[in-house]
Parts: sequence; structure tokens; C-alpha cells
Amino acid sequence: MERKTEDVVRRGRLKGERSGEMMHFLSSMDADRCIADADILVDMAHVLMLAKKNIIGKETAKQLLGALLGLYDNGIPDFVFDDRFEDIHAGIESYLVSSIGEDAGGRLHIGRSRNDEVATCIRMRVREDIARQLAILVSLRGILLDLAGDHTGTVMPGFTHLQHAQPTTLAHHLLAHEAAFARDFERLCGAYSRTNRCPLGAAAFASTSYPVDRELVASLLGFDGILDNTMDAVASRDFALEVLSDLSILMTHASRLCEELVLWSSRFVRFVELDDAFCSTSSIMPQKKNPDSAEVMRAKAGSVLGAAVAAQAIMKGLPMSYNRDLQELTPALLRGIRDAKHSTRILADMLSSASFNTEEMAAEAGRGYSTATDLADLLVQKYGMAFRTAHTLVGRAVSKGSLDLATLDRVAREEGFSPLSDLGLTQQEIDAALDPVAAVDRRRAPGGPSPFAVKVSLSERRAVLDRDSRFLDEKRNALSEAVRRLIADARREAGA
Ligand code: ARG
Repeated sequence: MERKTEDVVRRGRLKGERSGEMMHFLSSMDADRCIADADILVDMAHVLMLAKKNIIGKETAKQLLGALLGLYDNGIPDFVFDDRFEDIHAGIESYLVSSIGEDAGGRLHIGRSRNDEVATCIRMRVREDIARQLAILVSLRGILLDLAGDHTGTVMPGFTHLQHAQPTTLAHHLLAHEAAFARDFERLCGAYSRTNRCPLGAAAFASTSYPVDRELVASLLGFDGILDNTMDAVASRDFALEVLSDLSILMTHASRLCEELVLWSSRFVRFVELDDAFCSTSSIMPQKKNPDSAEVMRAKAGSVLGAAVAAQAIMKGLPMSYNRDLQELTPALLRGIRDAKHSTRILADMLSSASFNTEEMAAEAGRGYSTATDLADLLVQKYGMAFRTAHTLVGRAVSKGSLDLATLDRVAREEGFSPLSDLGLTQQEIDAALDPVAAVDRRRAPGGPSPFAVKVSLSERRAVLDRDSRFLDEKRNALSEAVRRLIADARREAGA
């Protein structure tokens, strides 16, 4: 069957040999390997609907479903992926015609086009990919929350402009990353709901004169409904642009975290020790342990952004409705999805196996006058000073190199104020204000770094994660249940 299987789509209108290079240039087969499984399901649902609406006879449906179940059960033969076929849709249809004959095989494509077919296949593939990405995000967020739970009392420096700013805790820092990944989860859920709409029945773009049941096909395939306007159904790829944009934002978040892991594992900082499994060494410098996985991940954020930009650039000049340019978008989409998936899965493992150097963090937490704000706050809260005045006096003292009482008295006099010790300020009060652990503990506002506030945040974040995880389970169960039912229907109608 392999050699004589001709491309049934091209054979009528076109003639002449094409060069191998030309076939390869035009064919989407490489990318179509990722939608081949979906295409079999799409064909089954279409045939079931055609039979139900008496558009094809029961016997034809039986033969078609039998052959499609053969592909589902045994896999698609390799020659069907040959790029003499323009795509997997032409490959499978050609296979069916040559295996069960043209009278049955040649009825598969009634009332549809490759335009609605490919759009449906991509949406089915992408909804699975989104669900997988959401699952990775659930586990990544869980790891961050667990780590945060272990480190509510781990005081460390917080930075602005990469300069020591104010002390915080490792838990608070990790919760900041978790919050960003939780919004990535939400964004992808939005993308999921717009992806999971069925284009079938749109045919080329103008629907069809056959009495097709679009709702039935959509529900057989586990979609949440149809894409109403049939021109939009074949022409739109904003679901893909949205997924790539969301993944690009997600990867930006992953990349920022990786940048910190690179920085923190440097000898300058030594806040973290990554597991050897995620590091490389040097071919010349035997002592080296480099955080290569975090670096590659940082770069992958650029690759995913590149895929998003490529996809959007492909779309921006296209008139309605289907244009073959759309085919070029699919590989960019798959590439972006793959890179984000691998990166975030590895990031989760890298984090859970990392060990944090809490002593180094604590030692660094109070350096660089990181609690100077607390001293200014003391002058405001206890001695009624205007904040700007306190800020100026403490800033002057820092520039003189000390925050002790004598220096503060001196700068107060220089600024025309009475010495602060005259107001009652003591060295003991200064020391208490400057203590980093106490400074963190005072920050109890919602979402703040004190162990008290972080524990409240943690229990809220865990509840949100549980809710998200249940939501994802429901979506995944609905998808696998739809496929299970579809296959059962196909077997029944095929008499198998
Ligand atoms: N391989 C094509 C794609 O990925 C399928 C649709 C082909 N349609 C057409 N009118 N040539 O977009």
C-alpha cells in the first residue's frame, strides 16, 4: 500500500513532478507529528456525526471507523508521514482511500476542509499542553510554598537596585516568586477556555450545505462549545498567540528566578548551593561548579519570546480567512510550548534539591545599613520627628560611617537640632531598631515578611493552590472522559 498511496488531495487539479525540496518546503509533516493523534479523533468524531445525520451510510461509517480505530490502536504507519503529502490530513485520507477503497475512504472529507480540521487538531493538542503546563505550575508552586514554610524565620537581605535595602525572610522572597507563577496559572486558564472551542463545521470558511451538527462534534471531542463564526473559526490563531504570550511571561518569571540562583550560587554571595545534577564543570578549570541549567533556562526565556514574536509576525498581515502562512505558526507554537515545559519542570527539581545557606543570609541581612529605615521610623514614632527630618539625619550619619548615638547627636547639631540624646534617645534603643530580626518581625502588614504575616500568607496561598489543582483535575478528567467515550462510540458503530 505504501508505494502506490497517492496524495488524493493534489491529484485532480495539479500535475507534474515536484522536487523533494519543494515537497519538503510545502509540507507541514514535521510539525504534524504532534497533531496526528488528534487528527484521528477528529476524523472519528466527524464520521460519527456524518452517520448520525445520515450524510453517510452506516456501512461507510463502519468501514471508516474500523480503519481509523486501526490507526488509533496500532499507530499510524510511517509512510503516512512522508512529506509527499502536504500534511497529515492528506496523508491519513490518502491512506484510508488506499486501504478501504475510494467509495468509503473518499467520503471522509464530506462537509469539511483541512482548514477547520487543522485548527481543531491544533486546539486539541494545545489544550493538552496547557493542562500539562498547569500541572507543572502546580508542582512548582507547591515546592515554593514548602520551601517558604521551612524558611519563615530565615532572615536575609532584601534588595532594590541589587543593593542591600531592608531585611526580609527567604520565605517572603520565595512567596514573591510563587505569586507570579500563580498569576501565570490564571493567565493560562484564561487561554485554555478560549482554546477549547471547536472550529469543525466551518469547512473552508463558509461552513457547508450538508446538515452538519457542529455542537455534536464539539462535544464528542471534549470542547466546551463551538467557535461560532465560521470564518473566524478557520482564520483565528489568537489562542496560540495568547498561549505563547502567557508562556513568555511565565518564562520571564522563571528566568528572573534563575538569575537569582546564578547570582546566589556565586562565591560573592553564597546563599545557595545547587545540586551537582544541575551544574557543569570546566574542561580546563578543575575546581569549577557552574550553574549551567539555570543559565540555559534564562536563555530559553529568550527563545520562547522569540517564538511568540515569530507567531505574531506571521499573523499580523493576513487577510481573512485561511492563508497557508498559518501553517508556519504551528512549529513556533510547539517550540515555545516545549521549551517552557522542559524549563519549568527542571526549575522545580532544581529548587527542591537546592540547599540554602541560611547562616550566610543571616550574616548579610544587617549589612549595608539595611535597617536604617527602622532607625528613622523610631525617631518618628517615639520622638515625633517629621519622617523627612529623620530620613535626613540618619542618611547623614550613614554618610559619616556610623549609626551610633554620638554620630547621630553630631549630625543633629550640624543640622540645627538639639542632640537626640537630649530628647532621650539611647544607644540601646538604636541597637534594637537596627536589629535585622526585630526589623523583620515588626513588618506585620498583610503580605509582609514577618513570620507572623508570612504564615497567614502561606495558608492563603496553599488554599489557592488547592483550588487551582482541583480545577485542573476537573479539566483533565473531562478531556480524558471525552476521549474514552468517543473511542467507545467509534467501536460500537464499527461493530468492533
Ligand atoms: N497543513 C495545513 C496547515 O497547517 C493544513 C491546512 C491546509 N489548507 C489549505 N487550504 N492548504 O495549516
